[in-house]
Amino acid sequence: MIHYHKEKQLFQLQTKQSSYLFEVNKFKHLQHIYYGGLIDLVEDASPFKMKYEFELGSATSYEEKGYMPQTTLFEVGTYGKGDYREPSIHIEFSDGSRTADFLYQSHDIIDNYNVKGMPMFQKDSTLKVVLKDQVFDVYLVLYYSVLYEEDVILRNLEIINDTDGEIILDKALSCNIDMLNKQYELTKLDGAWIRERHISHHFLTKGIVKLDSKKGVSSSDHNPFVMIKEKHTTEERGNAYGFALVYSGNFEANIEVSPHNLLRVNMGVNSFDFRFNLEKGASFTAPEVVLTFSSNGMNQLSSNFHNAVNKNLVSNQKERPILVNNWEATYFDFKQKKLLAIAKKAKKLGVELFCLDDGWFSRRDDDLSSLGDWHYNKKKLPRGLNGLAKKINKIGLEFGIWVEPEMVNEDSDLYRLHPDWAIQLPGRKPSLGRNQLILDLTNKQVLEHLKKTLHDLFSSAHITYVKWDMNRNFSDVYGSSLSIKNQGKFNHLYVLGLYELLAYLKETFPHVLFESCSSGGNRYDLGMLYYMPQTWTSDNTDAYERLFIQEGTSLLYPLSTISNHVSGDTSHQVFRHTPLETRFNVAAFGVLGYELDMSILSRFERKLIEKQIAFYKEHRNILTYGTLKRIRSVYHDQYTSWAVVNEDKSKAILGVFQGLIIPNAPFEKIKIDFLDDDKMYIIKAREQYMNIKVFGSLISHLVSFLKPNTMLHTFLSNRYTLKLNDFEKKMSGKELRNMDLLLEHNFTGTGYEPGGRVMLMEDFGSRIFVIKEISNEQENKMDI
Ligand code: DGJ
Repeated sequence: MIHYHKEKQLFQLQTKQSSYLFEVNKFKHLQHIYYGGLIDLVEDASPFKMKYEFELGSATSYEEKGYMPQTTLFEVGTYGKGDYREPSIHIEFSDGSRTADFLYQSHDIIDNYNVKGMPMFQKDSTLKVVLKDQVFDVYLVLYYSVLYEEDVILRNLEIINDTDGEIILDKALSCNIDMLNKQYELTKLDGAWIRERHISHHFLTKGIVKLDSKKGVSSSDHNPFVMIKEKHTTEERGNAYGFALVYSGNFEANIEVSPHNLLRVNMGVNSFDFRFNLEKGASFTAPEVVLTFSSNGMNQLSSNFHNAVNKNLVSNQKERPILVNNWEATYFDFKQKKLLAIAKKAKKLGVELFCLDDGWFSRRDDDLSSLGDWHYNKKKLPRGLNGLAKKINKIGLEFGIWVEPEMVNEDSDLYRLHPDWAIQLPGRKPSLGRNQLILDLTNKQVLEHLKKTLHDLFSSAHITYVKWDMNRNFSDVYGSSLSIKNQGKFNHLYVLGLYELLAYLKETFPHVLFESCSSGGNRYDLGMLYYMPQTWTSDNTDAYERLFIQEGTSLLYPLSTISNHVSGDTSHQVFRHTPLETRFNVAAFGVLGYELDMSILSRFERKLIEKQIAFYKEHRNILTYGTLKRIRSVYHDQYTSWAVVNEDKSKAILGVFQGLIIPNAPFEKIKIDFLDDDKMYIIKAREQYMNIKVFGSLISHLVSFLKPNTMLHTFLSNRYTLKLNDFEKKMSGKELRNMDLLLEHNFTGTGYEPGGRVMLMEDFGSRIFVIKEISNEQENKMDI
C-alpha cells in the first residue's frame, strides 16, 4: 500500500511485514528515512532523521550549513553537490557539465505500470515520483511498486531528456538505498562455470564492494543479487535485506560504507562501457530491482522472493514435466535409433518428455561448426524433427529440442552469407569462445531473421519444450549497424534485442515450456525467468557439488525455476561417485530430469529410477512450489538438510545429505520447527536402496560364497537391490519443534561385523523423509 502524507510530503510504502519511508525535504531532495520491519503510519518523520546542527570540518554543505549531502540518506545518489559516495546516476549535460541536482516536481499513483521492452513483475499500483534537474529540463522519474503479501518493493527509473541539446548518461542505475550501517554483513552469490552461485559472506568495513559483470550476460561470477544482514541473523531469526536486479546483461552492484557509517547499496546496468546519449525527447528506462526485508531470517527472505517470482514474474505455472536429456548420454554422437532406445526405456520408467540436445542440426558433430544453420541433419534424423517428434510422441513422451540461437560458427552457411551479422570489431580478428561468435542482436535484420527462423523451427514439429542455450561471453563488442555515437549503448541494446525476441516467442508459442541455459548457470537471473520459467542450474550434475549450487541458488530463486538432472555414475564434471539415490534426492528439490543413457541401465538402476520417478510425481507439487526451509547448510555442517512444506503444514518433505562419512559418528538430530504444533505427524523415510558393490571386500563376510570383484559379484550387484532400513516415527509438531527429529545412527564398521543400522550409509549418502499429518483415527492405526 502506498501512503502519502500531504502536509509533511512523506511517502510510506507498506507491505504486510515491512515499511519503506521517504520524504521530500526542505530542499526538494528525496530523502530516505527508513526501510525495515513494519511500523505504523508516520505523522512526523523528524525524530527519525539523522541531522548535524553544524558543518563538519571539510564537509560540503548544500545551501544551508548543516545540510551536508555526504551525511544525508537519499533515494538517488548524484555527484557534484557534496555527496561523495558512489553515485547511482551520472549525466553529462549539453554544456559539458556533469553535476545533476534532481528536485521534486510532482507525483502520482498509476495503474499497470509497464517497464518498456523489459522483463518485469506484475503489479497493481505504482508510485511515480517526478524530479527535474535544477537547471536543465532533464527529468528523473522514480517508480515504486508494492507487492503487499510478498513483502516486496519494486523500484526502477526513467531519465527523459527534454532539453534542446543532447545529454549523455554515463551511469543510470535502477535504484539507490541508503541506511545506517548496523555492523551489517554482505552475502553474495559468486562462482564460475560448474561452480555457480556459491554463498559468500563478508563483514562490511568502510569502502566500496563492487560486484559486476562485463561478460555481456549476468554471468556466474556474481549473481545480480545482494543480501545485507545483521551479524547474528540465521535462517530462522534476525533481520535481512535482499536486492535483486531483473536484468540479464552487464550489471553492477555497489555496497558502500561511508566514513560516517552510512550504508549505500545501488544496482543496475553496468556503467562500465556504458555511454548512453539521449537526443531531445528520448528516454532511458532502467530495469527493475526487487527489494525485500525479513525480520525472520534468511528462509523468510527467500520465501518472499520465491513467492513474488512464482506469482508475479513467471507466467507459466504449469506442472513441470520430468524429462530425459541425451547430452551426457551421447554428446554429439547419436543416431535416431539411439535416441528412440533412450526414449522407450525412459517412458517405461515414468519419464514424461524427451529433450534432444545439441548436435541434431546441419553438420554438427562437434562444436566446431553449424551454429546458425537450424535445419536437421539427415544422417542423424532421416525424417527430420517432425519424424522424430512423432515417434517420440507415439512412445508416449512429449518432445523438446535444444537451440543456441544467439550464436553462429564461422563454419556455417549463415556466417558465409552474413559475416557482418556476427559481433566483431572493424579490422580486428574476433576472439572466439567455444569456437563461436555471437550474433548482433542490436541489428534489426538479425532479429527479424531469428524471429522467422525460430518461428519456422518451433512450428516444424510438435515441440512443447525448448532448451535455449548461450555458451560464450562477449568480446570484440561493436555494433556494425549502430552509429559511432551509439556504440556505448551496445551492451544494453543487445539485451533489449534479446528481450524483444524472447517476448515474441513467448507470445507466439504459449504452449512451449522454455528452459534457459548458458553453459549451465551463466545467465541465471530474474530477467530470463520472465520469459523462461526454469533455468538449467549448472552443467555440474555431481550430487555433492549440487548441494552448494542449489543452496546458493535458493537464496533468491524458487525451486520451480531450478532445473536438476540425475546423471550417470562418475560425475562427468568432477569424477566423483555418488549413490544414485543421492543424485535423485538432491535433484528432487526443484524441477527433475535425467541425463544419462537410459537404454543401458542395469536392473538395479532401473528399479531405483522407476521408484524415484513415482515418488517425485506423487510429491511434485510440494517439491516445486512448497515453501523451502534450509535447515542445515552444506557450507557449515556435516549433514546438509533442506525441507519443503505445504501451505497448511499438513505435509513436508525433508532431505538429509551426508558429506564424507564420519567414523563412529555421534547421533544426529534434525530441527523441524516449521510445522503446526497442534498437528500429529508421521515421518517415514522414502524407500531407498543401495548397491552391494558398496560393501567391497566386506561382501564375503556377509555372504560367504560371494567373492569380491568376481563375475557373480558384478552380476548380482547389477540385479540385486538392498533396501536401506525403514524409518517411521509418529510425533506432534510441538514435539518435533522442541525435541527435533532423531535420526538413527549410521553405518559403523566393527571388525567383521558391518553392524549398525544403515541410515545414510556411504560417503555422500542421503535420505528423504515424508512428513504427513495424520488424523486421530490414523494415529491409532499408523496406517497411511
Ligand atoms: C552447454 C549446456 O549447459 C549443456 O547442457 C549442453 O546443452 C551443451 N551446452 C550442448 O552444447
